[in-house]
Amino acid sequence: MSLITSPAWKSLVAHAREAESWHLRDLLQDAKRCRALRVAAEGITLDCSRQLATPRTLELLEDLAQAAALPQRLAAMMGGERINATEGRAVLHTALRAAPDADIRVDGVNVVPEVHEVLGRIKSFATAVRAGRRLGSTGEALTDVVAIGIGGSYLGPEFVSEALRTDPACAKAAAGRRLRFLANVDPIDVTRALEDLDPRRTLVVVISKTFTTAETMLNARTVRNWIVKALGKQAVAQHMVAVSTNLTAVAEFGIDPDLAFGFWDWVGGRYSVCSAVGVLPLALQYGFPVVERFLAGARSIDHHVATAPLRRNLPVLLGLFGVWNSTFLGHPARALLPYCQALHKFAPHIQQVDMESNGKRVDINGQPLPFAAGEIDFGEPGTNGQHSFYQLLHQGRVVPADFIGFKRSQQPRQVKGHPVSNHDELMANFFAQPDALACGLSAEEVAAQDIPAELVPHKVFPGNRPSTCLLLEVCDAQAVGQLLALYEHRTAVQGFIWNLNSFDQMGVELGKVLATKVVAQLAASRRGEDRIKGFNPATTAMLKEYLG
Ligand code: F6P
Repeated sequence: MSLITSPAWKSLVAHAREAESWHLRDLLQDAKRCRALRVAAEGITLDCSRQLATPRTLELLEDLAQAAALPQRLAAMMGGERINATEGRAVLHTALRAAPDADIRVDGVNVVPEVHEVLGRIKSFATAVRAGRRLGSTGEALTDVVAIGIGGSYLGPEFVSEALRTDPACAKAAAGRRLRFLANVDPIDVTRALEDLDPRRTLVVVISKTFTTAETMLNARTVRNWIVKALGKQAVAQHMVAVSTNLTAVAEFGIDPDLAFGFWDWVGGRYSVCSAVGVLPLALQYGFPVVERFLAGARSIDHHVATAPLRRNLPVLLGLFGVWNSTFLGHPARALLPYCQALHKFAPHIQQVDMESNGKRVDINGQPLPFAAGEIDFGEPGTNGQHSFYQLLHQGRVVPADFIGFKRSQQPRQVKGHPVSNHDELMANFFAQPDALACGLSAEEVAAQDIPAELVPHKVFPGNRPSTCLLLEVCDAQAVGQLLALYEHRTAVQGFIWNLNSFDQMGVELGKVLATKVVAQLAASRRGEDRIKGFNPATTAMLKEYLG
């Protein structure tokens, strides 16, 4: 039976019609309801009381989760079954942060020892580089790292690195070191990444699961030329290392296979932060103990998602309310609003995790989905976002939002004479905005402010705009690992409910194929073969304009 014909689905459709008469302003007056929609676990408080929902909604969503076999599907994922059906692969990013004594099998073979073998190699390598025991070709310490990669081989590591940069313990561990990322094939990005760097002190980490991605390979060759030009060809061995599942291509590129850190086909690119993809650059910059705390944070959420009852399960609740908002209430987008500047690269990472995973049009069996799946994710740290797109959130379209805040700042400050700390000032907004979105301001309330009648409609806030609040202790390595895993599992939960494959990404292929065709045309045209062939009139005209 298809899920949409199940009693659970039909009940939710009917329930969504009832919800049309509710207003969050009223729902928020019910303390019992608010308590029922607030969950604390693993040092995190999740407040769903500003979702357009009642405890009954939660019951119905739980029924839907059971009807979709969510617990069994999560268990199959974390148990190593080949749930990525279109690619015949297991989906085991959780094994990347499993404890050394865990036993997680793919086709009967425990993968955990291999994971810890690579982690051990990274630990020794990074420690040797940081301690100045492994030097560059001229005998100088390798103080700077350029990590070259794109998509999943870039966004997650950059998010985590930026989140930790201002954590005092991490900053101390990174003193005197620099970590840069190079992703875009735009040559401007090369210039920015290499700015002020000295090749003698630079270690380049080429990160690519396939080691064939056009952008990464051209950037890797560009930076290799930079090293060779300054230090000679023989320097590549001391200045370039790789992270990949394609160790043959790594060797062909000229990187010493002993300096290649592998991972496995059961790690999807966008789920690879906890593999060597993220662990190597992060260990080089912050040291291995920091990475261990980050992995422990992610592991705590893996344990939680696997063991907590659905109703108290943080990623499950995030995912279920995502389905409620997008599929049943019809809100296609979602704003990610961390009230923490250190998380300024969180939204770009989750954009890939979520949209590349669930931006699908067919179900796992290839049947067209009878609803629009996937959410449009975007975001910006508060309070910057408030001065940018919140106007639309308050008075334009309804966009459910995730507010993420911390009890303590990485960098506490207080101006003498100011009544609260700078962090309290930030967090005042974290508490105010969800209520402003939920409760709004009625025409009567506006009129009572003695405002010219013609301005009243402009000043009305309809409210009834749902949001979720996540409150954590402080943005440290452990919390960043937790956030990462929370949102990875949130996406998986939604994909399981929607019955699609969250672990392939065939929609990125067509553009790549066409770009290869354009490259061939540009090469021919640059050689002087001036006829542009095989493109539609619009593209032909634009290519002519470009080539001049
Ligand atoms: O954009 C498509 C994609 O395949 C992503 O899924 C992946 O994270 C990225 O390209 C980079 O791939 P690779 O790690 O193989 O270079």
